[in-house]
Amino acid sequence: PWNEARGAEIIAEHDKVEGPTLVILHALQEAFGYVPEPAIPMIAAALNLSRAEIHGVFTFYHDFRDQPAGRHVLKLCRAEACQAAGGDALAARAESRLGISLGHTTADARVTLEPIYCLGLCATAPSAMLDGRVIGRLDEARIDALVAEAQR
Ligand code: FES
Repeated sequence: PWNEARGAEIIAEHDKVEGPTLVILHALQEAFGYVPEPAIPMIAAALNLSRAEIHGVFTFYHDFRDQPAGRHVLKLCRAEACQAAGGDALAARAESRLGISLGHTTADARVTLEPIYCLGLCATAPSAMLDGRVIGRLDEARIDALVAEAQR
């Protein structure tokens, strides 16, 4: 859980590096599993930037979460090659099976569904990643199996 004192320490550890905003956001997400909302003004104050600037960086990168992730994280590739290979329909299928849209976590906190932009597996598109394991050549049956696995 979020701990303000620990958050302040992490920010102080990295506020002199080059490109500190991204480094700090990554470090906070690593420590807490997400970037807690109260951290944004703390980063802004430490770096002498506006909250809007920090928030802009936070939302630009799809890797950052503003809430803790579920027990399993299923990332679906939404970049071009995977879209061209039918990724849109598979993403819609996963969303409807889980009852959530991309970027959200199921109410039972089991599964977080997230977009990712190219896994480097374009040759075997469409691709996904479940808890860090990459899977290519997805079709309806494989998406269903992945969703079922994530729900266990
Ligand atoms: Fe999906 Fe490259 S576009 S893996």
